[in-house]
This record gives sequence, C-alpha cells and structure tokens, in this order.
Amino acid sequence: MSAPRSDALVFFGASGDLAFKSIFPALQGLAATGQLDMPVLGVARKEWTREDLIARARASIEAAGVFQPEAFDRLSANLHYVKGDYASPSTYAEIRARLGSARRPLHYLAIPPSMFEHVIRGLAEHGCANGGRVVVEKPFGRDLASAQALDRVLHQYFRERDIFRIDHYLGKEPVQNLLYFRFANTFLEPIWNRQYVERIEITMAESFGIKGRGRLYDELGAIRDVVQNHLLQIAALLLMEPPVGQDPEAIRDAKGQAFRAMRPLDPAEVVRGQFDGYRDEAGVDPDSDAETFAALRLHVDSWRWAGVPIYIRAGKCLPVSATEVFVTLKRPPLAVFEDVPVAPPNHVRFRLSPEVLIELGTRAKRAGEGNLGEEVNLDACRNTVHAVPPYQRLLGDAMRGDQTLFARTDAVEASWRVVEPVLVNRPPLHWYKAGSWGPDAANRLIEGGVWHDPAATISSAPEPAATR
Ligand code: BG6
Repeated sequence: MSAPRSDALVFFGASGDLAFKSIFPALQGLAATGQLDMPVLGVARKEWTREDLIARARASIEAAGVFQPEAFDRLSANLHYVKGDYASPSTYAEIRARLGSARRPLHYLAIPPSMFEHVIRGLAEHGCANGGRVVVEKPFGRDLASAQALDRVLHQYFRERDIFRIDHYLGKEPVQNLLYFRFANTFLEPIWNRQYVERIEITMAESFGIKGRGRLYDELGAIRDVVQNHLLQIAALLLMEPPVGQDPEAIRDAKGQAFRAMRPLDPAEVVRGQFDGYRDEAGVDPDSDAETFAALRLHVDSWRWAGVPIYIRAGKCLPVSATEVFVTLKRPPLAVFEDVPVAPPNHVRFRLSPEVLIELGTRAKRAGEGNLGEEVNLDACRNTVHAVPPYQRLLGDAMRGDQTLFARTDAVEASWRVVEPVLVNRPPLHWYKAGSWGPDAANRLIEGGVWHDPAATISSAPEPAATR
C-alpha cells in the first residue's frame, strides 16, 4: 500500500541562505510538475509580508537562472508567510491556523540545528505533528550523543517512517548512479573487491571558501560539514553489498551494514588543515581550530574490503571544484608486455561534478610493430541531462513518503561512530595556502605520496545546473 501524500508544506528558514540557494528553485520545480498544489508556508523571523516572501522566492529563482513564469505563478499562489520566533508558542498556533484543513503537513527544518528541538516540540504541542512528516537538514547532531538525543525527541512525536534525514548528495543523479551502475551490470561486481581493487580515493574539492557562512562553518569544520555525511554516504554506496530486493529498506539495510564495517578513524591517519586567511573571515573565531580541509584513511572491516585503503579528502580553497571517486585496480599478475608494469593501472572513475562521468581506464595496443600500448578511456556515461535537482527530488520523495534517498538512523549513528575519535582527539591543525591542494602532511598519508588529481582531466564544460 502506498503512503498517503502530504497535503501541505511548511518550511522553516525561509529567509536563510539554503532557501535562497536551493529551496525556492526546488519548490518551483515541484509546482511545475504538479506536485505542489497545496499550501506552502514559509516560516522565518524576519519582519516580512507575504509579498516580501514572494519577491525573495522570485529573486532566488532568477538568480538560479531557472525562472518559469507559469510555474512561478502556481507556486506564489500557494505561498504564505508566517513570521515568528521559533521558541514562541504563538508561531506554532499561527502555523496550525494557516494549515487550515491540511492534516498531513510536511515540515522541513532548514534551520540551524540548535533550533531543531524547539521546532519539533512546538509543532507537536500545537497539533501539527499528528499525521505529519518532518525533514531534518544536516548536520544531524554534532556527534553520536547529540544525534541520539535528537532522535529521541523526534521519536516522541513522529514515527521513524515519517522522519526524513536529508543529505542532498543522495538526491544527486550521479550519486544515485553509483548504486545503479554497480548493480545493473554484471562485469563490475566480480572485480569490486580486495582481489582486484588497489585503493579507492574520494575527493571533494571546492575552489571557493566559506561564502559568508563563517559563524555556522566555524562550529562545524570540514569533518562535520561534509565528511560525516556526504562523503561517508558516497563511501557506503561504493562499499555496500548487493541489496536483497528493491524496497527502500533493502537498500538501506545493505548501506547500514557497510557503515558498520567502517572502522572508527585513527587520529594518526587524519590530517586537518586550515587555509591562510580563514580566521579573518566574518563570523570566524580569530583563534579558530576549525578545519577547512581534511584528508583521511578509512579501513573497512569486511571480507570484501579488508586491507583496501579508502582515502577521503575534502577542502575549501583548493585549486579546482570537483568531486570524484577514483578506484585504482591492481596491475595484471604477470608482466607479459614490457610497458605494463610502468604504465598507469586500470581504473574506474566516477566524476560527480563539475561534469558527470563514469569512465573505465583501460590499455589497448598501439598500432605498429612491438607490443606497446596506450591508455584508452571508455566512457559509460557523460553529463546527465534533464536531471531533477537534488532538493526537488528529495522534497518530492518526502511528500510521497519515500525514504529510499534519506539516511536511516542506524547509518547516521554509525557514521558518527566513524568520525567520533577525531572529534574527541583532534589531530593537529596544519596551514595551507588558498589555491593549493592542502597541507603537505596529506600527501604523507597516502601510499606513494600522491593523490589522484581530478584537475588534470576536468573538461571546460559548465556544470549541468541540475547537479547542483
Ligand atoms: C553542503 C556543505 O552540505 O554541501 C557546503 O555545507 C558544501 O560546505 C556543499 O559547499 C556542497 O554541495 P554541492 O551540491 O554544491 O556540491
């Protein structure tokens, strides 16, 4: 039996950056596809009117370059503004009144985590939780204990199936393709293990800094901001066993197992860096210890992956913006041809951004005398066209009650267990120059001393809007 659709959307944080950058365009996309013919309440503390909210939505959608007049009219006809303090009961009384006859609202908490509990209790005490669903933005907690405490509050008022822990990476088409590509093909699985895989590198490089998010970012640092969630989620999709069945829980069960096999990080195998000039950013503590770069080695204790190093690296102000997975395969067991032992080994590359690419790196004989070869890259996929933007996909799924692309509580807890040792016992901070690949210490972490450089092959094509 399919779950009933939500019949209203309430989003907290309507005046915030996330709403401007991603949520309004997603709402217009939902309106354009007929998925939002219901009241949409934006909630924030600003002294705004309904017209101000509509003007902000329009400015956001225009800035994203996706304005569609008809869809925007459909959206704005349903938009309402609730001005309120998140700690004040009158805010929730007004939300309930504005919801009118809606009985299954979806509440989306796009607000700082310190406000989650107020909002969840406020909603529940004013009859907005019954029959409702809740979408919680990342980060889900600051560590294992706070994630568990947040879960306890949520579970007092919402059933697990009505709680949606959002990680927008899971809504990205190329991230979903990791799972699809692995299990829709027969040729990959037989070699996707410790017998054939030498190592896996996951790089999330951003050429920009913290974009005015100083105060929030300074409380997080790269490990909480992107490693515990986006990058470990990607790792789980690469490492998981084939799910048994197609239902959302089968996939989430297999992912949960992959998370549990990840060994808690060893602080000696984690390098933290901060770019020069970070402490001068607005909102940042002048003595800040927050890392804007992290590189680490992850061990996976499973039969499939034992001994295969998984290297993860993420940072701000790096030379390029690119996110990619690079899987290096082992060399052939015998050097039948003289060039093979010195040539680059085979690889599988999943480029998630700026362009989308799945590439198999092979060797083939070069024409002519002698047995000398050259690298031949086979493209299995290049650029996703007409993809649904992640927030549109995820909010649409949550309104239908589909949990597949959301993080389950066991996975969230397991991922906090993985990073917890370095939150408690923080490795020393190294400085690096903006525009470099982070501190030198990161190179000493990786076997051979050289990380795969995604910049070497980045195409000049602009990122497809839908992957953002
Ligand atoms: C967010 C992080 O979750 O993801 C940001 O808070 C980061 O620091 C962003 O820049 C990257 O997302 P995307 O979709 O632009 O790759």
